[in-house]
Amino acid sequence: MTAKQKNLMDVISALAKRRGFVRPTSEIYGGIGSSYDYGPLGIEMKRKLADLWWKQMVRKHENIVGIDSAIIYNPRTWVASGHVEGFVDPLVDCRQCKARFKADDLVEHAKRAKGVDDPPLTPDGSTLDPDHPSYGQLSCPTCGTRGSLTKPRSFNLMFKTHVGPVAEDAAAVYLRPETAQGIYQDYPQVVNTSRLKLPFGIAQIGKAFRNEITPGNFIFRTREFEQMEMQYFIRPGEDEKWLEFWKEERMAFWRDVVSIREENLRFHKHGSDELAHYAKEAWDIEYNFPFGWAEFEGIHNRTNYDLTRHIEYSGKEKDLQYFDDQTRERFIPYIVETSAGLNRGLLAILLDAYAEDDLGGETRVVLRLDPKIAPITAAVFPLTKKDGLPEIAREITEDLKRNFNVFYDEAGNIGRRYRRQDEAGTPFCFTVDYQTKEDGTVTIRDRDTLEQPDRPKIEELPRILFDRLSL
Ligand code: GAP
Repeated sequence: MTAKQKNLMDVISALAKRRGFVRPTSEIYGGIGSSYDYGPLGIEMKRKLADLWWKQMVRKHENIVGIDSAIIYNPRTWVASGHVEGFVDPLVDCRQCKARFKADDLVEHAKRAKGVDDPPLTPDGSTLDPDHPSYGQLSCPTCGTRGSLTKPRSFNLMFKTHVGPVAEDAAAVYLRPETAQGIYQDYPQVVNTSRLKLPFGIAQIGKAFRNEITPGNFIFRTREFEQMEMQYFIRPGEDEKWLEFWKEERMAFWRDVVSIREENLRFHKHGSDELAHYAKEAWDIEYNFPFGWAEFEGIHNRTNYDLTRHIEYSGKEKDLQYFDDQTRERFIPYIVETSAGLNRGLLAILLDAYAEDDLGGETRVVLRLDPKIAPITAAVFPLTKKDGLPEIAREITEDLKRNFNVFYDEAGNIGRRYRRQDEAGTPFCFTVDYQTKEDGTVTIRDRDTLEQPDRPKIEELPRILFDRLSL
Protein backbone atom coordinates (compact mmCIF):
# COMPACT_ATOMS: atom_id res chain seq x y z
CA MET A 1 0.00 0.00 0.00
CA THR A 2 1.41 3.42 -0.91
CA ALA A 3 1.24 6.54 1.22
CA LYS A 4 -1.45 7.90 -1.08
CA GLN A 5 -3.71 5.09 0.00
CA LYS A 6 -2.79 5.40 3.67
CA ASN A 7 -3.31 8.60 5.52
CA LEU A 8 -0.29 10.75 4.70
CA MET A 9 -0.47 12.30 8.16
CA ASP A 10 -0.01 8.88 9.79
CA VAL A 11 2.85 8.11 7.44
CA ILE A 12 4.61 11.38 8.24
CA SER A 13 4.15 11.09 11.99
CA ALA A 14 5.48 7.51 11.90
CA LEU A 15 8.49 8.60 9.82
CA ALA A 16 9.03 11.59 12.11
CA LYS A 17 9.10 9.30 15.13
CA ARG A 18 11.23 6.59 13.54
CA ARG A 19 13.88 8.97 12.22
CA GLY A 20 14.07 11.37 15.15
CA PHE A 21 12.22 14.39 13.81
CA VAL A 22 9.29 14.64 16.23
CA ARG A 23 7.82 12.27 18.82
CA PRO A 24 5.19 12.48 21.56
CA THR A 25 6.63 13.76 24.82
CA SER A 26 6.68 11.92 28.19
CA GLU A 27 6.15 8.56 26.57
CA ILE A 28 7.48 6.69 29.63
CA TYR A 29 4.37 7.94 31.47
CA GLY A 30 2.00 7.31 28.60
CA GLY A 31 2.47 10.74 27.03
CA ILE A 32 0.24 13.77 27.41
CA GLY A 33 -2.14 14.70 24.63
CA SER A 34 -0.65 16.77 21.81
CA SER A 35 2.71 17.62 23.33
CA TYR A 36 5.76 16.79 21.26
CA ASP A 37 9.53 16.65 21.49
CA TYR A 38 11.82 17.45 18.59
CA GLY A 39 14.61 14.94 18.07
CA PRO A 40 18.04 15.43 16.44
CA LEU A 41 16.70 15.81 12.89
CA GLY A 42 13.61 17.78 13.93
CA ILE A 43 15.51 20.41 15.89
CA GLU A 44 17.98 20.91 13.03
CA MET A 45 15.10 21.50 10.66
CA LYS A 46 13.18 23.71 13.06
CA ARG A 47 16.25 25.87 13.65
CA LYS A 48 16.92 26.13 9.94
CA LEU A 49 13.36 27.27 9.28
CA ALA A 50 13.59 29.84 12.08
CA ASP A 51 16.99 31.03 10.77
CA LEU A 52 15.72 31.38 7.22
CA TRP A 53 12.75 33.38 8.48
CA TRP A 54 15.08 35.58 10.55
CA LYS A 55 17.42 36.18 7.61
CA GLN A 56 14.54 36.95 5.28
CA MET A 57 12.66 39.22 7.69
CA VAL A 58 15.32 40.85 9.87
CA ARG A 59 18.73 40.67 8.18
CA LYS A 60 17.49 41.53 4.70
CA HIS A 61 15.59 44.64 5.82
CA GLU A 62 17.46 47.62 7.23
CA ASN A 63 14.28 48.83 8.91
CA ILE A 64 13.39 45.58 10.72
CA VAL A 65 15.02 44.55 13.99
CA GLY A 66 14.47 41.67 16.38
CA ILE A 67 13.72 41.24 20.07
CA ASP A 68 13.19 38.33 22.44
CA SER A 69 10.68 39.25 25.11
CA ALA A 70 9.54 37.37 28.22
CA ILE A 71 6.74 34.80 28.11
CA ILE A 72 5.05 36.00 31.30
CA TYR A 73 4.01 39.64 31.06
CA ASN A 74 2.24 41.87 33.53
CA PRO A 75 -1.32 40.42 33.41
CA ARG A 76 -2.76 43.86 32.61
CA THR A 77 -1.25 43.29 29.16
CA TRP A 78 -3.91 40.71 28.41
CA VAL A 79 -6.76 42.84 29.72
CA ALA A 80 -5.58 45.64 27.45
CA SER A 81 -5.02 43.39 24.45
CA GLY A 82 -8.59 42.10 24.73
CA HIS A 83 -7.53 38.49 25.31
CA VAL A 84 -9.04 38.21 28.80
CA GLU A 85 -12.40 39.15 27.44
CA GLY A 86 -12.23 38.09 23.82
CA PHE A 87 -9.89 35.09 23.48
CA VAL A 88 -12.63 32.61 24.30
CA ASP A 89 -14.32 29.61 22.79
CA PRO A 90 -17.96 28.95 23.72
CA LEU A 91 -18.22 25.34 24.92
CA VAL A 92 -21.19 23.04 25.43
CA ASP A 93 -21.13 20.10 27.88
CA CYS A 94 -23.27 16.99 27.95
CA ARG A 95 -24.64 16.61 31.49
CA GLN A 96 -25.11 12.89 30.87
CA CYS A 97 -21.82 11.62 29.42
CA LYS A 98 -19.64 14.67 30.22
CA ALA A 99 -18.50 15.05 26.58
CA ARG A 100 -17.48 18.61 25.72
CA PHE A 101 -17.99 20.33 22.37
CA LYS A 102 -17.10 23.65 20.78
CA ALA A 103 -20.43 25.40 20.21
CA ASP A 104 -19.38 26.09 16.62
CA ASP A 105 -18.92 22.39 15.98
CA LEU A 106 -22.55 21.76 16.94
CA VAL A 107 -24.03 24.02 14.26
CA GLU A 108 -24.12 21.29 11.60
CA HIS A 109 -25.38 18.80 14.20
CA ALA A 110 -28.24 21.18 15.04
CA LYS A 111 -29.15 21.60 11.36
CA ARG A 112 -29.43 17.84 10.91
CA ALA A 113 -31.07 17.05 14.28
CA LYS A 114 -33.91 14.57 13.91
CA GLY A 115 -37.33 15.73 15.02
CA VAL A 116 -36.19 19.38 15.26
CA ASP A 117 -37.92 21.27 12.45
CA ASP A 118 -36.65 24.69 13.40
CA PRO A 119 -32.95 24.33 14.40
CA PRO A 120 -31.85 26.45 17.39
CA LEU A 121 -29.61 28.81 15.44
CA THR A 122 -29.24 32.58 15.18
CA PRO A 123 -31.13 34.09 12.20
CA ASP A 124 -28.03 33.98 9.93
CA GLY A 125 -27.56 30.28 10.78
CA SER A 126 -23.93 30.72 11.86
CA THR A 127 -24.12 30.01 15.61
CA LEU A 128 -26.22 28.20 18.20
CA ASP A 129 -28.99 30.16 19.86
CA PRO A 130 -29.40 28.75 23.40
CA ASP A 131 -32.56 30.85 23.97
CA HIS A 132 -34.29 29.33 20.97
CA PRO A 133 -37.33 27.21 21.94
CA SER A 134 -35.91 24.08 20.28
CA TYR A 135 -32.49 24.24 21.98
CA GLY A 136 -33.63 21.81 24.69
CA GLN A 137 -34.59 19.23 22.06
CA LEU A 138 -31.04 18.76 20.83
CA SER A 139 -29.40 15.48 21.66
CA CYS A 140 -25.76 14.86 22.56
CA PRO A 141 -23.72 13.82 19.48
CA THR A 142 -21.76 11.34 21.63
CA CYS A 143 -24.30 9.55 23.84
CA GLY A 144 -27.51 10.58 22.05
CA THR A 145 -29.28 11.76 25.23
CA ARG A 146 -31.91 14.34 24.39
CA GLY A 147 -31.97 17.60 26.33
CA SER A 148 -28.64 16.92 28.04
CA LEU A 149 -26.64 19.79 26.52
CA THR A 150 -25.77 22.80 28.66
CA LYS A 151 -25.95 26.30 27.24
CA PRO A 152 -22.67 27.48 25.69
CA ARG A 153 -20.20 28.76 28.29
CA SER A 154 -17.14 30.87 27.51
CA PHE A 155 -13.81 29.19 28.03
CA ASN A 156 -10.68 31.34 27.91
CA LEU A 157 -7.86 29.78 25.90
CA MET A 158 -5.05 31.39 27.90
CA PHE A 159 -3.09 29.27 30.35
CA LYS A 160 -3.34 30.79 33.79
CA THR A 161 -0.80 30.27 36.56
CA HIS A 162 0.47 32.09 39.64
CA VAL A 163 3.71 33.88 40.37
CA GLY A 164 5.14 33.29 43.82
CA PRO A 165 4.06 30.79 46.47
CA VAL A 166 0.46 31.88 46.98
CA ALA A 167 -2.10 30.73 44.45
CA GLU A 168 -4.37 33.71 44.87
CA ASP A 169 -6.06 35.80 42.21
CA ALA A 170 -3.82 38.79 42.84
CA ALA A 171 -0.83 36.70 41.77
CA ALA A 172 -2.47 35.28 38.64
CA VAL A 173 -0.55 35.58 35.37
CA TYR A 174 -0.91 34.12 31.89
CA LEU A 175 1.45 32.32 29.56
CA ARG A 176 1.41 34.46 26.43
CA PRO A 177 -0.96 33.20 23.70
CA GLU A 178 0.88 35.25 21.03
CA THR A 179 4.31 36.91 20.91
CA ALA A 180 2.95 40.16 19.44
CA GLN A 181 2.13 41.90 22.72
CA GLY A 182 5.76 41.78 23.87
CA ILE A 183 6.65 43.80 20.79
CA TYR A 184 3.92 46.40 21.32
CA GLN A 185 5.01 47.03 24.90
CA ASP A 186 8.70 47.33 24.01
CA TYR A 187 8.30 49.34 20.84
CA PRO A 188 9.14 52.83 22.19
CA GLN A 189 12.48 51.59 23.62
CA VAL A 190 13.31 49.74 20.41
CA VAL A 191 12.60 52.89 18.38
CA ASN A 192 14.97 54.85 20.61
CA THR A 193 17.81 52.38 20.78
CA SER A 194 17.71 51.45 17.09
CA ARG A 195 16.79 54.95 15.82
CA LEU A 196 13.89 53.58 13.75
CA LYS A 197 11.68 55.72 11.54
CA LEU A 198 8.31 54.74 10.08
CA PRO A 199 7.80 52.39 8.42
CA PHE A 200 9.73 49.86 10.50
CA GLY A 201 9.31 46.34 11.79
CA ILE A 202 10.03 44.46 15.01
CA ALA A 203 10.30 40.69 14.85
CA GLN A 204 10.46 37.86 17.33
CA ILE A 205 10.40 34.10 17.41
CA GLY A 206 9.21 32.36 20.54
CA LYS A 207 6.85 30.07 22.34
CA ALA A 208 3.17 30.76 22.72
CA PHE A 209 0.60 28.76 24.68
CA ARG A 210 -3.10 28.14 24.16
CA ASN A 211 -5.31 25.76 26.09
CA GLU A 212 -6.83 24.42 22.86
CA ILE A 213 -10.08 22.49 23.24
CA THR A 214 -9.43 20.32 20.23
CA PRO A 215 -5.69 19.95 19.69
CA GLY A 216 -4.65 17.38 17.13
CA ASN A 217 -3.49 16.46 13.68
CA PHE A 218 0.01 15.72 14.93
CA ILE A 219 1.91 19.03 15.39
CA PHE A 220 -0.73 21.10 13.56
CA ARG A 221 -2.59 22.18 16.68
CA THR A 222 -0.85 21.85 20.05
CA ARG A 223 -1.14 23.70 23.33
CA GLU A 224 2.47 24.82 23.23
CA PHE A 225 3.94 26.03 19.94
CA GLU A 226 6.30 28.56 18.43
CA GLN A 227 5.44 31.64 16.47
CA MET A 228 7.55 33.71 14.09
CA GLU A 229 5.94 37.14 14.19
CA MET A 230 6.80 40.52 12.71
CA GLN A 231 4.91 43.69 13.57
CA TYR A 232 5.23 46.39 10.90
CA PHE A 233 4.61 49.90 12.21
CA ILE A 234 3.24 52.29 9.60
CA ARG A 235 1.49 55.62 9.12
CA PRO A 236 -2.29 55.60 9.54
CA GLY A 237 -3.90 55.21 6.15
CA GLU A 238 -1.05 53.14 4.68
CA ASP A 239 -2.39 49.88 6.09
CA GLU A 240 -3.94 48.53 2.89
CA LYS A 241 -0.77 49.07 0.89
CA TRP A 242 1.45 47.33 3.45
CA LEU A 243 -0.99 44.48 4.01
CA GLU A 244 -0.77 43.75 0.29
CA PHE A 245 3.03 44.02 0.35
CA TRP A 246 3.50 41.63 3.25
CA LYS A 247 0.99 39.13 1.89
CA GLU A 248 3.08 38.75 -1.25
CA GLU A 249 6.39 38.69 0.64
CA ARG A 250 5.24 35.97 2.98
CA MET A 251 3.79 33.81 0.23
CA ALA A 252 7.07 34.18 -1.68
CA PHE A 253 8.97 32.95 1.40
CA TRP A 254 7.12 29.64 1.57
CA ARG A 255 7.10 29.16 -2.18
CA ASP A 256 10.59 30.35 -3.20
CA VAL A 257 12.78 30.12 -0.09
CA VAL A 258 11.64 26.86 1.45
CA SER A 259 10.20 25.53 -1.83
CA ILE A 260 6.70 24.38 -0.88
CA ARG A 261 4.92 23.47 -4.12
CA GLU A 262 2.82 26.35 -5.39
CA GLU A 263 -0.24 24.20 -6.06
CA ASN A 264 -0.39 23.38 -2.33
CA LEU A 265 -0.47 27.02 -1.23
CA ARG A 266 -3.27 29.55 -1.35
CA PHE A 267 -4.62 32.68 0.35
CA HIS A 268 -7.84 32.75 2.31
CA LYS A 269 -9.48 36.02 3.31
CA HIS A 270 -11.25 36.05 6.67
CA GLY A 271 -14.97 36.68 6.56
CA SER A 272 -16.47 38.96 9.21
CA ASP A 273 -17.35 35.93 11.37
CA GLU A 274 -13.72 34.70 11.38
CA LEU A 275 -11.90 37.95 12.20
CA ALA A 276 -9.98 38.03 15.50
CA HIS A 277 -11.03 40.76 17.92
CA TYR A 278 -8.03 42.93 16.95
CA ALA A 279 -8.21 42.65 13.16
CA LYS A 280 -9.79 44.89 10.55
CA GLU A 281 -8.71 42.61 7.70
CA ALA A 282 -6.93 39.27 7.80
CA TRP A 283 -5.52 36.83 5.26
CA ASP A 284 -4.34 33.31 5.89
CA ILE A 285 -1.70 31.50 3.95
CA GLU A 286 -3.11 28.00 3.74
CA TYR A 287 -1.52 24.67 2.93
CA ASN A 288 -3.34 21.74 1.40
CA PHE A 289 -2.97 19.42 4.42
CA PRO A 290 -4.18 15.80 4.16
CA PHE A 291 -7.22 16.83 6.24
CA GLY A 292 -7.97 19.83 3.99
CA TRP A 293 -6.80 23.40 3.39
CA ALA A 294 -5.76 25.08 6.64
CA GLU A 295 -3.91 28.15 7.86
CA PHE A 296 -0.27 28.12 8.86
CA GLU A 297 0.44 31.87 8.65
CA GLY A 298 -1.77 34.92 9.13
CA ILE A 299 -1.24 38.44 7.80
CA HIS A 300 -3.34 40.87 9.78
CA ASN A 301 -4.25 44.52 9.63
CA ARG A 302 -4.37 45.28 13.37
CA THR A 303 -4.83 49.03 12.80
CA ASN A 304 -3.96 51.03 15.93
CA TYR A 305 -6.15 48.74 18.05
CA ASP A 306 -3.42 47.27 20.27
CA LEU A 307 -1.47 50.47 20.91
CA THR A 308 -4.67 52.41 21.59
CA ARG A 309 -5.69 49.81 24.15
CA HIS A 310 -2.26 49.81 25.80
CA ILE A 311 -2.44 53.60 26.06
CA GLU A 312 -5.86 53.31 27.65
CA TYR A 313 -4.79 50.68 30.20
CA SER A 314 -1.27 51.91 30.99
CA GLY A 315 -1.93 55.65 30.81
CA LYS A 316 1.36 56.03 28.88
CA GLU A 317 -0.04 58.03 26.02
CA LYS A 318 3.07 59.99 25.21
CA ASP A 319 5.38 56.96 25.41
CA LEU A 320 3.29 54.81 23.12
CA GLN A 321 2.77 57.45 20.45
CA TYR A 322 5.23 57.88 17.64
CA PHE A 323 6.92 61.24 17.27
CA ASP A 324 7.75 62.32 13.73
CA ASP A 325 10.68 64.72 14.10
CA GLN A 326 10.25 66.10 10.57
CA THR A 327 6.58 67.08 10.82
CA ARG A 328 6.69 67.45 14.64
CA GLU A 329 3.54 65.33 14.79
CA ARG A 330 2.70 62.80 17.49
CA PHE A 331 0.35 59.93 16.60
CA ILE A 332 -0.43 56.25 17.17
CA PRO A 333 1.03 54.13 14.35
CA TYR A 334 -0.94 51.42 12.56
CA ILE A 335 0.35 47.87 12.54
CA VAL A 336 0.37 45.14 9.92
CA GLU A 337 1.37 41.81 11.39
CA THR A 338 2.79 38.67 9.82
CA SER A 339 2.32 35.71 12.15
CA ALA A 340 3.61 32.28 11.16
CA GLY A 341 3.55 29.02 13.09
CA LEU A 342 7.01 27.47 13.18
CA ASN A 343 5.68 23.99 13.93
CA ARG A 344 2.84 24.20 11.42
CA GLY A 345 5.22 25.51 8.78
CA LEU A 346 7.51 22.57 9.49
CA LEU A 347 4.61 20.14 9.15
CA ALA A 348 3.62 21.65 5.79
CA ILE A 349 7.22 21.35 4.56
CA LEU A 350 7.51 17.71 5.65
CA LEU A 351 4.20 16.74 4.06
CA ASP A 352 5.07 18.56 0.86
CA ALA A 353 8.47 16.89 0.61
CA TYR A 354 7.32 13.30 1.19
CA ALA A 355 7.54 11.01 -1.83
CA GLU A 356 7.65 7.32 -2.58
CA ASP A 357 9.56 6.47 -5.76
CA ASP A 358 9.23 3.21 -7.58
CA LEU A 359 12.75 2.11 -8.44
CA GLY A 360 11.95 -0.89 -10.63
CA GLY A 361 10.08 -2.90 -8.04
CA GLU A 362 11.68 -1.36 -4.94
CA THR A 363 9.99 1.57 -3.20
CA ARG A 364 12.23 4.39 -2.10
CA VAL A 365 10.94 6.76 0.61
CA VAL A 366 12.45 10.19 0.13
CA LEU A 367 11.97 13.65 1.60
CA ARG A 368 12.57 16.09 -1.24
CA LEU A 369 13.46 18.91 1.11
CA ASP A 370 15.00 22.11 -0.16
CA PRO A 371 18.74 21.89 0.71
CA LYS A 372 18.35 25.06 2.80
CA ILE A 373 15.95 23.31 5.16
CA ALA A 374 17.20 19.69 5.10
CA PRO A 375 18.42 18.70 8.58
CA ILE A 376 21.58 17.06 7.21
CA THR A 377 23.11 18.96 4.31
CA ALA A 378 25.51 16.26 3.17
CA ALA A 379 26.51 12.74 4.08
CA VAL A 380 30.03 11.46 3.56
CA PHE A 381 30.68 7.76 2.94
CA PRO A 382 33.84 5.75 2.44
CA LEU A 383 33.10 3.12 -0.21
CA THR A 384 34.68 0.47 2.01
CA LYS A 385 35.94 0.35 5.58
CA LYS A 386 39.55 -0.30 4.54
CA ASP A 387 42.51 0.90 2.46
CA GLY A 388 42.56 4.37 4.01
CA LEU A 389 39.15 5.40 2.59
CA PRO A 390 37.53 6.01 6.04
CA GLU A 391 40.39 8.32 7.00
CA ILE A 392 39.92 10.50 3.91
CA ALA A 393 36.12 10.53 4.41
CA ARG A 394 36.52 11.53 8.05
CA GLU A 395 38.84 14.35 7.10
CA ILE A 396 36.29 15.67 4.57
CA THR A 397 33.56 15.40 7.22
CA GLU A 398 35.57 17.33 9.79
CA ASP A 399 36.33 20.09 7.31
CA LEU A 400 32.71 20.44 6.15
CA LYS A 401 31.39 20.34 9.72
CA ARG A 402 32.88 23.78 10.30
CA ASN A 403 30.05 25.24 8.22
CA PHE A 404 27.42 22.56 7.64
CA ASN A 405 25.57 19.77 9.35
CA VAL A 406 27.34 16.77 7.83
CA PHE A 407 26.91 13.11 8.65
CA TYR A 408 29.61 10.44 8.37
CA ASP A 409 28.44 6.89 7.74
CA GLU A 410 30.42 3.73 7.02
CA ALA A 411 27.85 1.17 8.21
CA GLY A 412 26.20 -1.20 5.74
CA ASN A 413 26.31 -1.36 2.00
CA ILE A 414 26.34 1.87 0.05
CA GLY A 415 22.77 1.40 -1.25
CA ARG A 416 21.43 1.13 2.29
CA ARG A 417 23.38 4.19 3.36
CA TYR A 418 21.82 6.17 0.49
CA ARG A 419 18.32 5.04 1.51
CA ARG A 420 18.83 6.16 5.11
CA GLN A 421 19.79 9.61 3.89
CA ASP A 422 16.88 9.75 1.41
CA GLU A 423 14.45 9.27 4.29
CA ALA A 424 16.14 12.06 6.24
CA GLY A 425 15.96 14.34 3.19
CA THR A 426 19.75 14.73 2.84
CA PRO A 427 20.28 16.38 -0.54
CA PHE A 428 23.91 15.38 -1.19
CA CYS A 429 25.99 12.28 -0.54
CA PHE A 430 29.73 12.33 -1.18
CA THR A 431 31.47 8.98 -1.55
CA VAL A 432 35.17 8.44 -1.18
CA ASP A 433 36.36 5.59 -3.42
CA TYR A 434 39.62 4.30 -4.83
CA GLN A 435 39.75 7.04 -7.47
CA THR A 436 39.78 9.58 -4.64
CA LYS A 437 43.21 8.32 -3.66
CA GLU A 438 44.46 8.92 -7.17
CA ASP A 439 42.99 12.29 -8.14
CA GLY A 440 41.42 13.80 -4.98
CA THR A 441 37.86 13.69 -6.37
CA VAL A 442 34.70 12.15 -4.85
CA THR A 443 31.36 11.08 -6.28
CA ILE A 444 28.44 13.39 -5.57
CA ARG A 445 25.03 11.81 -5.65
CA ASP A 446 21.92 13.92 -6.10
CA ARG A 447 19.02 12.80 -3.90
CA ASP A 448 16.31 13.66 -6.39
CA THR A 449 17.75 12.61 -9.74
CA LEU A 450 19.87 9.79 -8.26
CA GLU A 451 22.52 10.93 -10.69
CA GLN A 452 26.21 11.34 -10.02
CA PRO A 453 26.89 13.96 -12.66
CA ASP A 454 30.56 14.70 -12.11
CA ARG A 455 33.38 14.14 -9.67
CA PRO A 456 34.24 17.34 -7.86
CA LYS A 457 37.58 17.87 -6.17
CA ILE A 458 37.50 17.66 -2.37
CA GLU A 459 38.42 21.35 -2.08
CA GLU A 460 35.35 22.30 -4.17
CA LEU A 461 32.84 20.72 -1.79
CA PRO A 462 32.32 23.71 0.59
CA ARG A 463 31.65 26.01 -2.38
CA ILE A 464 29.15 23.54 -3.90
CA LEU A 465 27.23 23.45 -0.61
CA PHE A 466 27.40 27.22 -0.01
CA ASP A 467 25.97 27.82 -3.49
CA ARG A 468 22.96 25.64 -2.74
CA LEU A 469 22.27 27.11 0.69
CA SER A 470 22.40 30.84 0.05
CA LEU A 471 19.16 32.80 -0.09
N1 GAP B 1 -0.46 37.30 16.71
C1 GAP B 1 -1.46 36.82 15.85
C2 GAP B 1 -1.77 35.42 16.05
O1 GAP B 1 -1.36 34.81 17.01
P1 GAP B 1 -3.06 33.42 14.98
O2 GAP B 1 -3.68 33.30 13.60
O3 GAP B 1 -3.90 33.12 16.16
O4 GAP B 1 -2.50 34.90 15.03
C3 GAP B 1 -0.75 32.67 14.09
O5 GAP B 1 -1.77 32.51 15.02
C4 GAP B 1 -0.14 31.34 13.71
O6 GAP B 1 0.28 30.65 14.89
C5 GAP B 1 -1.10 30.37 13.01
O7 GAP B 1 -1.16 30.62 11.63
C6 GAP B 1 -0.47 29.04 13.31
O8 GAP B 1 0.54 28.74 12.38
C7 GAP B 1 0.16 29.25 14.67
N2 GAP B 1 -0.70 28.66 15.71
C8 GAP B 1 -1.76 29.24 16.32
N3 GAP B 1 -2.31 28.37 17.22
C9 GAP B 1 -1.59 27.23 17.15
C10 GAP B 1 -1.65 25.98 17.82
N4 GAP B 1 -2.55 25.73 18.76
N5 GAP B 1 -0.73 25.02 17.49
C11 GAP B 1 0.22 25.27 16.56
N6 GAP B 1 0.32 26.44 15.90
C12 GAP B 1 -0.56 27.42 16.18
